[in-house]
Amino acid sequence: MAKIVSSWNDWDPLKRVIVGRCDNSVIPPEEPATSEKVPVDSEMRGMWGLRPLETVERGNECLENLVKILEDRGVVVDRPTPLQWNQAIGTPDFRNDSMMTCMPPRDILLTIGNEIMAAANSFRCRYFEYLAYWPLMEMYFEQDPDFKWTQAPRPRLTDKSYKHNYYDEKITLEERLERTAAKDFVTTEVEPMWDAADVMRMGKALFIQHGLTTNRAAMDWFQRYYPEFRVHAVNFPGDPYPIHIDATFVPLRPGLIINNPHRPLPEPQRAIFEANDWQIVEAADPAHTEPPALCYSSVWLSMNCLVLDPKTVIVEASEVHQQEQMDKLGMNVIPCDLRDAYPFGGGLHCSTADVYREGECLDYFP
Ligand code: ARG
Repeated sequence: MAKIVSSWNDWDPLKRVIVGRCDNSVIPPEEPATSEKVPVDSEMRGMWGLRPLETVERGNECLENLVKILEDRGVVVDRPTPLQWNQAIGTPDFRNDSMMTCMPPRDILLTIGNEIMAAANSFRCRYFEYLAYWPLMEMYFEQDPDFKWTQAPRPRLTDKSYKHNYYDEKITLEERLERTAAKDFVTTEVEPMWDAADVMRMGKALFIQHGLTTNRAAMDWFQRYYPEFRVHAVNFPGDPYPIHIDATFVPLRPGLIINNPHRPLPEPQRAIFEANDWQIVEAADPAHTEPPALCYSSVWLSMNCLVLDPKTVIVEASEVHQQEQMDKLGMNVIPCDLRDAYPFGGGLHCSTADVYREGECLDYFP
């Protein structure tokens, strides 16, 4: 029996990883949580259904590029089993006309040490997405006697979980920014809700973004579930759509983080890093002025890199400024053509979920 699952951070040498799949991906129908997150000027507003097949094929091709790079470097790659995502779903508490996709895995699976936990996502359309990863979890469970297979408490996602009329077509960017600064988000606090991609794992410290996908109750839940860890709630007032921390605040190695210059980490949270001699560097500008078509995310997926070890990083092939900056910061950069996978939910970090990284649980912020 082998040790298959272990990972404490995003930079130790990567040995095994899950890479998502775009098959059967759907643009989900509007629901209380999602309408807030589709930018007002997005061509996706009001449209839903299966994504065009040629975009799915091209997205999958991009993910295969990543798989090849990883396998060539000896990293074991596991893949989810997609469901027919365009099915209606229901629980005793809600109904939704469709699911979404099994991209990106980073939003669903949180690996901390020998435990992989399926998240308590706030989108109804993502309620059953974890099922795509269950065949892998079964395999890890069978082969690794130490693997802890966990599901976070499932949120009920009734109407009480969301603020109603939070969103209004006429809301301006300034008003959005005011809401972010006031920590006023679409979710309520009736139950813990969180996406795994809001959690930045740094050994004994977890930095969790409070925003549209993760609420305060989740912070409280994490601190009680991991009493030996320190949970730090972070928020980035410059982000009008605060969803997932990995295009905002991205560690490259112990002591070095790149921060989206439009979304600087405010004091006093910054002080925790500075007091421990961590350098926070402004990320380079994206190479693009627009995200690709039918994409939810911003151009800042440029900084959504996958660190293979503290000296090696995979960066999207067209993101030349980010590559150059990584190079200057002393990293060996491996470019990967992945941009056409962005519409399915994210870049290199998003598209993956850690299974095994060497290394142990250290206290970087004693
Ligand atoms: N909210 C981020 C942005 O648009 C995108 C984050 C995507 N990350 C993810 N894990 N799905 O800048």
